[in-house]
Amino acid sequence: MEWNASWIRPAADLLDVCPVFSKSFALCKPLEKATLRITALGVYEASLNGNRVGDFILAPGWTCYDQRLQYQEYDVTELITDTNTLMVTVGKGWYRGRLAGWTDSKVQSNLQKNPAGLLAELTLLYSDGSTEQVVTDSSWTTAKSPILLSEIYDGEIYDATVVPEEGTSAVVFDGPYHTLIPQQGEEVHEQDHLFPEQIFYTPKGELVIDFGQEVTGYVETTVSASAGEEVSLSFAEVLDKDGNFYTENYRSARAIYRYICRDGLQTYKPHLTFYGFRYIRINAFPGGVDHAKPENFIAIAVHSDMRRTGRISCSDPMLNRLFDNILWGQKGNFLDVPTDCPQRDERLGWTGDAQVFCRTACFQYDAERFFTKWLADLAACQTPEGRVGHVIPDVLEAPNGSAAWGDAAVICPWEVYLAYGNPQILKNQFKSMTGWIDYITSTTTTPNLWTGGEHYGDWLGLDAPSGSYKGSSREDFIASAFYAYSTELVIKAGKVLGEDVSAYETLYQNILTTFRETYPEYTTQTECVLAAHFGLAPDPQAAADQLADRIRQCGIRLETGFVGTPYLLHVLSTYGHTELAYSLLLRKEYPSWLYPVTKGATTIWEHWDGIMENGDFWSSDMNSFNHYAYGSVADWVFGEAAGIHTVEEFPGYERVRIEPKPDSRLDCLNVELQTRRGMLRSCWKKENGFWKYEIVTPSPAVIVIDGQERTVEKGSYLFFGKL
Ligand code: BGC
Repeated sequence: MEWNASWIRPAADLLDVCPVFSKSFALCKPLEKATLRITALGVYEASLNGNRVGDFILAPGWTCYDQRLQYQEYDVTELITDTNTLMVTVGKGWYRGRLAGWTDSKVQSNLQKNPAGLLAELTLLYSDGSTEQVVTDSSWTTAKSPILLSEIYDGEIYDATVVPEEGTSAVVFDGPYHTLIPQQGEEVHEQDHLFPEQIFYTPKGELVIDFGQEVTGYVETTVSASAGEEVSLSFAEVLDKDGNFYTENYRSARAIYRYICRDGLQTYKPHLTFYGFRYIRINAFPGGVDHAKPENFIAIAVHSDMRRTGRISCSDPMLNRLFDNILWGQKGNFLDVPTDCPQRDERLGWTGDAQVFCRTACFQYDAERFFTKWLADLAACQTPEGRVGHVIPDVLEAPNGSAAWGDAAVICPWEVYLAYGNPQILKNQFKSMTGWIDYITSTTTTPNLWTGGEHYGDWLGLDAPSGSYKGSSREDFIASAFYAYSTELVIKAGKVLGEDVSAYETLYQNILTTFRETYPEYTTQTECVLAAHFGLAPDPQAAADQLADRIRQCGIRLETGFVGTPYLLHVLSTYGHTELAYSLLLRKEYPSWLYPVTKGATTIWEHWDGIMENGDFWSSDMNSFNHYAYGSVADWVFGEAAGIHTVEEFPGYERVRIEPKPDSRLDCLNVELQTRRGMLRSCWKKENGFWKYEIVTPSPAVIVIDGQERTVEKGSYLFFGKL
């Protein structure tokens, strides 16, 4: 797309202060339509005559900026008057801010050398059919905005007493055009407003507000004040065991919120940053901290604007809380890219986490567009050899790809395809998918396995040797298992697209044979899980039985980490150990999904024991309380407990298999999924000594109750089965 606009920047670097660019213009004739095309090096907020343009928070979003920079188009007809001022504030955002706080990210420091740039083009279509454009050029002015600091990790400082400066002429510079693409992802919008649940003084004497729910977003403060008075807040996810405000786990993320008031009644919310929090501490407030009241504050949750599609509820209130926590995990971490967490100095698009959670994500929300954009970035950041970054956008540029992390390149497109039935995602990604397999083939030190390299292993597995984050499962075993699985998915994807995949078919057979020869035995729960789930074990039933034995031997406890946990219950229920799967799901002691719920969790924790039995924290540096990965258990509830599957040859629920697996420790389970073909429901409940199943299918289905298969057409059905 051609641009008539020039990239502009402030004449001098304003350091932490966000520049505001402005341009005034008058209409010369009656207007039909006005459209603003705009993007920035940073994140921007535009206003026309004082009214915000659009609802996109943190536009233009986060992409692999050196290759892809989205621009947005807004219909601003309603905002135009006879005389107009267009103003755009540009913050550092992901483009120019500090990212990956624990590293010297070269990628990021290179981006930071760029100025705070703006590119905008307002097209005025007059009623007589003629057009005129207001474009960024040296006739625009730039000035310091009241935002004195704005960073993704460090928060925002806003001074409402700042008197607007006259400004100086903007400077035209040589900014990027070749990377510009139209908005591809979902816009990030404000989604939920939460009111304080409690206000209290902690034992340390600090005034704290509890919103009752961990959210990702910001706080809106409304206050009456005199100019120069200040609102200062800090953010926390949890209180420590003494009930004090706890921020250590934010690591180097400063998460500042300072608002310097003007005179009168005023409302402020940060413009160009976000926070992950449940609690706020009032550090300063007009008239003194004691004057802060719950009604002064509202928490606003922001996330990518996806349509909610899946719902689960059951008779167990603790499980229901877990389901809510999983949902909030997605809300809190689907902020333009799938992030590991929203609070500490990471908030990065970790590929492993996204891969693990992708199926759940596509149940809970319609995430096709969200993943389409992120996967396009994944492909764009992939090296010519096919290496996939550990995080996307790849601000780390680690030299090696990691098994189960890089496999996001293959697993995510496949999951999105299954969920929505649209082969476009496979078309878009096929080169990236095969690239990943070819990368493994060319870097492994043993043909037909993946040995060597650097991997995260079974990250956070509980069978980790002391002092290590990696579980005891053999790294080569995991890497080779994923090599096989991803190759199998590439073959399936290639067949959907009509590609010649014969070389991958041969490769797959070779991997399978070599894997079986090399790994005749499984030494951990995760190894059993992968061998059975990926069909690598010559006898998957035996691998699943061994898994069940291992779980029983250690007291019905899971020991799996990021790699084994997502498939753990699937393997159990697929191979006749459904009751054991439920025992793990319903377990309340550490380690389990419900243990954090007993500790008051409102999101999914990074560690099974983020808060330990004795109230201590697992650690201060790796302890996120909003890490969605283990929330992937929801895909077991949808897929196995409620038994909802799309038939692989008819993806997107064009044909369905529904095979519910109830457990008598629950009285009922209700699952519904708004598929692209219509509503799908699978509910079971105890009634008069039977299980009563209510099933609604939007398309032809095979329904399996007590092992008996029935083929049905689209419609609603009622069955009774053995309790
Ligand atoms: C992130 C994870 C990520 C991991 C890589 C962590 O710091 O928060 O979720 O996958 O690093 O092993």
